[in-house]
Amino acid sequence: MTKPAIVNIEHVGQHAGEEVTLQGWLYNLRESGKLLFPIFRDGTGILQGVVSQKEQPTAFEALHGLGQESSVIVTGKIRPEPRAPGGFEMGVTHVEVVGRVKESEPYPIQLKEHGVDFLLDRRHLWVRTPRQASILRIRAEAIRAGREFMDAQGYTLADAPIFTPAACEGTTTLFEVQYVDDQKAYLTQSGQLYSEALAAALGKVYCFGPTFRAEKSKTRRHLTEFWMLEPEASYAHLEDMMALGEGLVSHIVQSVVRNRRRELETLKRDIPKLEAVLPPFPRITYDDAVAILQQRGNPAKWGDDFGGDEETILSSQFDRPVMVHRYPAAIKAFYMEPDPLRSELALGFDMLAPEGYGEIIGGGERISSYDLLVKRLRENNLPEEAFQWYLDLRRYGSVPHAGFGMGLERTVAWICGTEHIREVVPFPRMIYRVYP
Ligand code: 4AD
Ligand code: MG
Repeated sequence: MTKPAIVNIEHVGQHAGEEVTLQGWLYNLRESGKLLFPIFRDGTGILQGVVSQKEQPTAFEALHGLGQESSVIVTGKIRPEPRAPGGFEMGVTHVEVVGRVKESEPYPIQLKEHGVDFLLDRRHLWVRTPRQASILRIRAEAIRAGREFMDAQGYTLADAPIFTPAACEGTTTLFEVQYVDDQKAYLTQSGQLYSEALAAALGKVYCFGPTFRAEKSKTRRHLTEFWMLEPEASYAHLEDMMALGEGLVSHIVQSVVRNRRRELETLKRDIPKLEAVLPPFPRITYDDAVAILQQRGNPAKWGDDFGGDEETILSSQFDRPVMVHRYPAAIKAFYMEPDPLRSELALGFDMLAPEGYGEIIGGGERISSYDLLVKRLRENNLPEEAFQWYLDLRRYGSVPHAGFGMGLERTVAWICGTEHIREVVPFPRMIYRVYP
């Protein structure tokens, strides 16, 4: 007799009527007299099994009383069962216990609700639950689709360093590290400045990697370590980047809807809301945004930066992400090109996700004039020596250029509909958490 095929749970539907083998873990076990209803998981899904003491006494004995999260290799026949999760179940005939969870040390995460601090302390185990595994699969799809889109647009992946000599996004959120000997370095806040150099070399580039902010904010939108996808293009302007940003975000969302629908269902995400995320996205000026806020009774005045509350009010006016452009230069980063028509405005934009998820993209056009850039470095008290290489980009063939950064976790949190951004990264790093 040939051995049954080893299959993944996500594919068991293709094996109805066949005997197959699964390699996984015991996710849950319900005992009902002479019947056992184990639920197995293998990382691709969950599958209910049925074992009767009378018909399969050996398999019954192996599973009876077995601790949650023991690892098991199980064999049995797959049959349709509309009441079971996924629509199929397994009539278990054989069980091999690979790693038994001791009765004296039961698995700490039960299927009941736990507090989030309890779960975060056990993140290394929490990732096993179907909900967390679904989120991580969606994250992987968002990364894949993001790269696919950028590559198809003719952007070359060119990564930026993580150790850097200076700040990019303000000196208050810098992580300083003791580098070799007496040298100091900082963990990068954004690859942008390096992408600008690479855009002058390759035309259109993007980097996609971890970035760091010593954010004092303890909100549901802030991590100290997060990933950013950052395109940068030579001879590009603000409008080009808004078009690229809406194309990128809609491609990511539609790819997740197409390729990770089952995971979105596991998360009970409202899928039609995501299906509506198609270009064009609305574009409003900062001036318009302040007017909208004031009409809604928000105390915002012209010149204020927007916080989470303001972003939520603005984004709730639209069924897809909204792009707010031309903010006051005073509240934006030192490198932003001023609007030639109103020099108090910066040619920058933020993309705000719907449903209160806030800013997912920040970017715009960069200063191309050497003299203006030197002036801004001084106004911002930034060390000119550390920026000499960056000034070189304006000394040698400076061109108009633009780019943006898309925060991966903010984007994935919105797509998944998670309450907090910390759930969408395998091991979140926040101001008060670096364990596990
Ligand atoms: O708006 P930010 O600060 O822009 C930049 O860093 C630019 N240099 C990017 C560029 O133009 N290449 O950050 C970009 C995005 C934000 O819109 C947000 O989605 C995300 O990065 N982000 C964070 N995500 C999680 N935790 C934090 N502490 C974040 N800070 C920014
Ligand atoms: Mg920003």
